Amino acid sequence: MFYLTTAIDYTNGSPHIGHAYEKVLADVIVRYRRLRGDEAFFLTGVDQHGQKVQQTAEQEGVNPATFVKRTTKKFLNLWEQLGVEYDGWAETIDPRHKACVQSILSTLKQQGQLYKHAHSGHYSVRQEQFLSDRDRDESGNFGPEWGEVVEIEEDNWYFKLSEHTAWLKSYLDATPDAVTPAFRKAELLNALERNSGTDLCISRPKERLRWGIEIPFDTDFVTYVWFDALINYISFAGYHAAPDAGLPDFTRLWGGDERPVHIIGKDILVPAHGIYWLCMLHAMGFPDAQMPRLLVHGWWNIRGEKMSKSIGNIVDPNQLADRFGVEALRYYLVRDIVTGKDSDFDVERLIMLYNTELANELGNLCNRALNMSQRFTEGMLQRGGSFTEDDLALQSSLIQSTTAYRTAMDEFDVSKALEALSRHIVHCNRYTDRMQPWDLNKDPEKKDRLATVLYHLAESVAHAAVLLSPILPDAAAKLAGQLNLPNLTNIRLPDLRWGLIPEGHTIGKPKPVFPKIIVEEPSP
Ligand code: ME8
Ligand code: MG
Repeated sequence: MFYLTTAIDYTNGSPHIGHAYEKVLADVIVRYRRLRGDEAFFLTGVDQHGQKVQQTAEQEGVNPATFVKRTTKKFLNLWEQLGVEYDGWAETIDPRHKACVQSILSTLKQQGQLYKHAHSGHYSVRQEQFLSDRDRDESGNFGPEWGEVVEIEEDNWYFKLSEHTAWLKSYLDATPDAVTPAFRKAELLNALERNSGTDLCISRPKERLRWGIEIPFDTDFVTYVWFDALINYISFAGYHAAPDAGLPDFTRLWGGDERPVHIIGKDILVPAHGIYWLCMLHAMGFPDAQMPRLLVHGWWNIRGEKMSKSIGNIVDPNQLADRFGVEALRYYLVRDIVTGKDSDFDVERLIMLYNTELANELGNLCNRALNMSQRFTEGMLQRGGSFTEDDLALQSSLIQSTTAYRTAMDEFDVSKALEALSRHIVHCNRYTDRMQPWDLNKDPEKKDRLATVLYHLAESVAHAAVLLSPILPDAAAKLAGQLNLPNLTNIRLPDLRWGLIPEGHTIGKPKPVFPKIIVEEPSP
């Protein structure tokens, strides 16, 4: 089983394109794995506890429970609109999650992994963490990134993180695919080098924060939001769950022949996932072979700048989907970024990439393949007999593109996979320009040749529909419908080969699937 998760999004605000990207990327990867023929489970959800939520709720004058219900709905609606189809939905206020977090805390306490300790020092309200001298800038101050910094002294519960960091280093050294891309693993090892001696504070006193999961053995405290949130990956996978809880059987998702994959953004690798989470799992007794892989993606920026509320440059995915359509947005989000790197979000490029690669190139191919078949051969397709060099070159272009697509998708590089597919579409359009089916149609002697050419085009559309299906499932289904091959979307990659269209098959009614985006020029 392939078990894939994303980060769970903070519900202190509305979803932005960064959130949308991560979920679409995960959705594409899971759909691709199913296309490969693998069984897959996709978990995503929302992170509902913590100080940020408590504060925003207070500002809006509602209780936190009401507030998170409202914001959670925005995420749920967006995933529905964008066709993000998950198998499990994680909400950290779910009582089943709370039971799991508390049972883990109790077990770790019994095992001597937790201790209570009084700490005094500087505390960043915005980042919800104590600061050390390492966090000061060159002039000895705590920079603006920490927000308001206050001095406090308080009792808290600590997890003996430092007992696991030597193990973590050896695990990372021994496991090439522990973190993808590799430069992120180097970053993590560097951080570990600097940070291996400190333990992790995992509680907050209730006077300061009420909106969290109570520490089961010391009810004046709630659980630190990261300790709570990270556990979602196992709690909603059925770890320590009652058999009638309506959660998956944990052993099916975790601990089989493939390790789970967590998709996360670059900002939450160090220390949350790369250090805390892996050490937490180690303390709970998970063996190395069951450690999750971390797939770390980059960020969408705006003209080189970080998206932020204070700059006011946050891009709203709902608006984009309404304006340009879901297909254009899904395509852009995985097409114009290399997994692992940052990219600039640019509406002009969204329009350009959609218009060039989908409306023009693929749209043109579909139009030619389907419309000309309809007009010249009454929609009937025949494989034809002897292939010319051009035909064979087209067939080999398709094989090359499909192979490159698969390699790239296996490496989570969706953009490269789409580029590979695009190369074949371009090849097909050039082939059409050379073969001139409209001329072949005028000559009764060339009916066979015409049939062969049209078959090559239609067969390419069928393959394109299959390969595009993880990225644009709705468009793929429409293409399958027009080809009159409703079962096309059930095909698995191992069965993908020349001849998807049966001899003598009749296609359906063609209709443009990728209407061009027309932008009205602003009047001078
Ligand atoms: O970090 N581009 O939640 P979050 C791409 N609740 N991805 C972005 C992005 C951007 N501009 N901005 C944010 C949290 N993200 C925690 C996670 S997991 C147990 C708890 C990504 O709402 C970010 O990197 O701040 C993260 O992976 C996800 O969106 C949620 O961010
Ligand atoms: Mg964040």
